[in-house]
Parts: sequence; structure tokens; C-alpha cells
Amino acid sequence: MSKQMINHRGKQFSTLIDRVTPKLKRVFKTKNDLFILTSSGTGGMEAAVVNFLSSEDKVLAASIGAFGDRFADIAEKYGAEVRRIQKLWGTVVNPKELELELKLHPEIKAVLITHNETSTGVTNDLESCAAVVRKFDKLLIVDAVSSLSAIPVETDKWGLDVVVSGSQKGWMVPPGLAFISVSKKAWVAHAEAKMPRFYFDISKARTSLEKHQTSFTPNISALFALDVALDMILKEGTRSIFSRHKKIAKRLRKGVKQLGLEVFAKNGFESDTVTAIKIPSEIDARQLRQILEDEYDIVVAGGQAKLSGKVIRIGHLGLVTEDDIDDVLMSIKSILESIKSV
Ligand SMILES: Cc1ncc(COP(=O)(O)O)c(C=O)c1O
Repeated sequence: MSKQMINHRGKQFSTLIDRVTPKLKRVFKTKNDLFILTSSGTGGMEAAVVNFLSSEDKVLAASIGAFGDRFADIAEKYGAEVRRIQKLWGTVVNPKELELELKLHPEIKAVLITHNETSTGVTNDLESCAAVVRKFDKLLIVDAVSSLSAIPVETDKWGLDVVVSGSQKGWMVPPGLAFISVSKKAWVAHAEAKMPRFYFDISKARTSLEKHQTSFTPNISALFALDVALDMILKEGTRSIFSRHKKIAKRLRKGVKQLGLEVFAKNGFESDTVTAIKIPSEIDARQLRQILEDEYDIVVAGGQAKLSGKVIRIGHLGLVTEDDIDDVLMSIKSILESIKSV
């Protein structure tokens, strides 16, 4: 990332984007078109809405947490008529319920779903949900920001039309890039879609990529990093990466129980990339996080929206080791002991 800047309209950049895009497709497990956007993951989500829908389109948003709600909010802001499946936080979307909704509401054009809900530490059964959406021939738009590259996502095999991810998660790259894949069916929807768009117009992105460029000035430093990170990912292989994440997540969950704490996700739905831990009401979650940061140099996230102050969240995706997990657990243990002894 400390490399000298290059001209994003020059030959060196063309070589870079032409090298990185096919590597990304290998991890997405897709032959679909794929674009790199300079934005955070939310920008990718917005691109996934505005490029394939028109205002007043009926959209089903299956939400299991704050990021699912955000997807629904974006679609609503752009005028879509959003029908929400709102599940109890900590649980998943039930494919049978999805099926019933699609049966009862044939006017629905697209389904928005979060693969891995980072706010609750829950992973949806995307493969089963995708099979239902395919059966009804609807467009499936997936937020895979905190899953792709760390837990299995089969874009082509599962028939995922639009898939979004973000550089700062399992990709091991700083924030600043979003990735979006677009199926043939999604291109057909794009041709009819009328929502307003400018920066995130994927027609423009496609024309630019044909010229081996991006539409606007890209985050070149993050692309340098992504190039290296993708080599690491492809060298290790996704099978090994997925089992590493599974193992680390299991180790953390076991440790959480040993601390006498509880994982927020309901049994069987736990994410292998992020764990939300319930914090008993007698403990100040904010203070716990602050001590972790100030005294142990460990940064964990707090709860979002209605989970604010009620959980802490530990990200364990990308370059995370078993030692890191043990370190976090030991640190939490000593803080809890010191709180109890006061
Ligand atoms: C599942 C999910 N979706 C979307 C986002 C939004 O991404 P960003 O914060 O990069 O805009 C995040 C970020 O944590 C996320 O975890």
C-alpha cells in the first residue's frame, strides 16, 4: 500500500485491474461480471439496489438484524415498495417462510438478503434461501460483506444474481473497496431498472472495465493490497480458509461458555466470522470494551441499534489466529475477575 501512486488511466493500472478482477471472480466462485467500486460495503449495497430496481417495484427484504434493515431502508429510500420479513434477532430466515411469502405475493420482483448478519453474529442458510428464490424466478440480491472469502459462498452454483462484498472484511484489506457481481438475469433487470444512479451506475462500470479502467478515480492503494491479499487467499485455498474460520469460531464460542457468558446467536445459527456475546446487565459493556482497548490493545465492537450496550462483538475473519482468540478470551477473563473483585 505504500507503493508510489500510479495513473489510473495508464497502462500499469489496466494491468492491475485486469489481474485483480479474475482473481476476485475465483473467490466469488463466479463467471458473472464483477466490478470493483471505490466505496464502503454500504455503497456496494446501494449499487445493488439502484442498478436492478425501479421505484415502486415490490421487494422482499429478509432481515435478521441491523444490516438486513439497512438493505431494506436503502430500497425504501429509492422508492421501492418493501415488504419486510423481520426475524427475531439471533435467528435466521426460514426458507419455508420465504417460500410462503413468495407464494402469497407473486408481485414481488426481487429478494434482498444478508448472508452473514454482522450485528447479531448469525449466518443465514443462503443456499436453501437461494433455492427458494430461484424456484419463484425472482432476482436474488445478496449482502455477502462479512461472509465472502471467509465462509462458503457459491455465486454461480447457488444462482445468486447480485452479490456484494467489502474489502475490510475477510479480504484482509483496509476499507475502501466494494465488489459486486452481476448475473445475466441481473443484467436483464438492469436494462429495465429506472432508479436514479450516477456514481454507482454499473453500465458505466462495464464500459470502463472494457477499457481496463474504472469509471471514477479508484482507491489505488487498496487495490495494491487486494492484489496481494488475493494471492494469499488463492495460495491457501478457500477450503482451508473456510475450515480455519470454522475452527477459530468454535474455539471462541467454547471459550465464551467457559467464561460463563452466552453467545447471542441461537444454537446452530452462529457465524464463523463474527461472534456477538451477551453482556450481563450488571456489567457495563462500554467500559469493558474501553478497558480491552486501553489496557490490552484489543479492539472489539459494541452492539448496534437495539443491541447497543447489550453485547460485544468479536470479529474473527481474515488474518486471525487461535492465539488471537486465546488472547481476547484471557483478557476478558481478567477484566471480569477484576470487576467482580471491586
Ligand atoms: C453484513 C454487512 N453488510 C454491510 C456492511 C456495511 O459495510 P460498510 O460499513 O463497509 O459500509 C457491513 C459492515 O460491517 C456488514 O457487516
